[in-house]
Amino acid sequence: MAEPWSKSSWRSKPLRQVPEYPDPAALAAVETRLATHPPLVFAGEARNLMAGLAQVSRGNAFLLQGGDCAESFAEFSANNIRDTFCVFLSMATVLTFAADVPVVKVGRIAGQFAKPRSADTETRDGITLPSYRGDIINGEEFSESARRPDPARMLSAYYQAAATANLVRAFATGGYADLKRARHWYLDHHHPDLEQRYRDVVDKIDEGVEFLRTFSLADMVKQQTSQVDFYFSHEALLLAYEEALAREDSLTREIYDTSAHMIWIGDRTRQPDGAHVEFCRGVKNPIGLKCGPSMSEDELSRLIDILNPKDIPGRLTLIVRCGADKVGEKLPRLIRAVKGRSVVWSCDPMHGNTVSTANGRKTRPFDRVVKELKSFFEIHAAEGTYPGGVHLEMTGQNVTECLGGAQAITEVNLDDRYTTACDPRLNASQALELAFMMAEWMAAKRKKGAPIAASA
Ligand code: PEP
Ligand code: CO
Repeated sequence: MAEPWSKSSWRSKPLRQVPEYPDPAALAAVETRLATHPPLVFAGEARNLMAGLAQVSRGNAFLLQGGDCAESFAEFSANNIRDTFCVFLSMATVLTFAADVPVVKVGRIAGQFAKPRSADTETRDGITLPSYRGDIINGEEFSESARRPDPARMLSAYYQAAATANLVRAFATGGYADLKRARHWYLDHHHPDLEQRYRDVVDKIDEGVEFLRTFSLADMVKQQTSQVDFYFSHEALLLAYEEALAREDSLTREIYDTSAHMIWIGDRTRQPDGAHVEFCRGVKNPIGLKCGPSMSEDELSRLIDILNPKDIPGRLTLIVRCGADKVGEKLPRLIRAVKGRSVVWSCDPMHGNTVSTANGRKTRPFDRVVKELKSFFEIHAAEGTYPGGVHLEMTGQNVTECLGGAQAITEVNLDDRYTTACDPRLNASQALELAFMMAEWMAAKRKKGAPIAASA
C-alpha cells in the first residue's frame, strides 16, 4: 500500500539539488503569495496532452519536445519566443509530412528556469561561490550577491512564464500557426539548401490542402489547419514553486501541477524514495522521467510502479539520454525491462553528448547527437517497440553553440553567438536538419511495410 500523498509530502523525503535560501521566512512568504496566483495551465489541457501522449504510446503519433536548456530573464523577448515557436512548427511540418503521423508539440518553455548542477559551488580565481542554478533561483553573474538564492525570483519566473504562455497561445490559435503560413515558419536564411528542402515540403502540403478544398471540404480543412495544439513543459526541480502551483481540479478533485502541462524528473533527482519522485507521483499531469546511463533495469521498474501504478497510457514518458556511445548497450536492456507496460519512449540526444573544448566551452558535436538518435530508432526497430519521440535543446536563433551541422560550425566559431544560459542548443538549421533525418528514418520504416506502430 502506497503511503498517503499530498502536495507537500515531498518535504519529508530526501531532497537533492536544493538551493540554500538564506532567509526561510522570505521563502515562505513567496510560496504563500504564489499559491494565490492563477494557474498557468488548466487540468483539462493536461488531460488533452495525456490523450495525445497515449496515442504516441500506441505508435499513432510522435512527440516533439524541445526548447531552451534554461529560459532566462535576460533573453526574454517576443522575438525569441516567436523564433522557438517557428522552429517547432517547421520541424513538426517536416515530420508530419514524411512520417504521416500527428506530432504532439511540447515546448521546454514558459517555466523552464531551474537547473540541476553537478557541483554545489563554483571556484574562479580562488573565489568560491554557490553554483548558478537558473534564473528562478539565483543570477549567473559571478558575484556573491547574484549567486545568493533569492525567493523573489520565483515570482519573476512566474510572471515571465505567464507572459510567455500568453504569447505562445496567441501564436498557436490566433492565425500565426495557420498551415497557409507554413512557408514563413522557417525563419533562418543561413542555409539555402535546407530552406529549399523545407519549401519543397510546404509546396507539396499546399497541393494536398488545395485538393481537399476543391473537393468541397473547405470548412473541414480550415478547421483542421488554422491552429495547433502546443503544450508547455519543464523540469520539476524547484519543488517549492511546483507545490505553490499544485491545485485541485474542480471537475475531478484531483491535484494537477498547473505550472505546466507536462513536468519531468531530471536524471539527478530520480531517486525512488526522493522528494522529486514523491511530488510527481501524486500530481495527475503527464510525467517525464530522464533515464541516464546509471539507470538500472530494477530501478526503472520500481520508478514505473511508483509513477504509473495503474499503467495509464500517456502518463509516463521515458526520456533516454545515455550518450551516443552507451545507448547501444543500455537502451535494449531498459526496453526489455519495461515491455508490457504502457510508456512513451523518447530520446534526449543532447545531455549524454556534452563535451568541453580546450578553452572550456561546453558544446555538443552534431554528429554525436545524430548518432545517438539514429541508434534510438534502430534499437526500437530491432526490439519491436516504437520510438515515440525526441527531446531537444534548441532555439530558433542562429546561435553557434553545437559543433557541425549544415553550417559546419567549428570550435573557432563557437564564440561568435554563444548565448545559452546553460547547455549548448541546436540552432534553427541544425534542428530542421535533424527533423529531416528523423523524417527519413520514419518514412523508410513505413516503406519497408512494417507498421510504424508497435504492439507493445
Ligand atoms: C535538462 O534537461 O536540462 C537536464 C538537466 O537533463 P538531465 O536531467 O537529463 O541531465
Ligand atoms: Co540542459
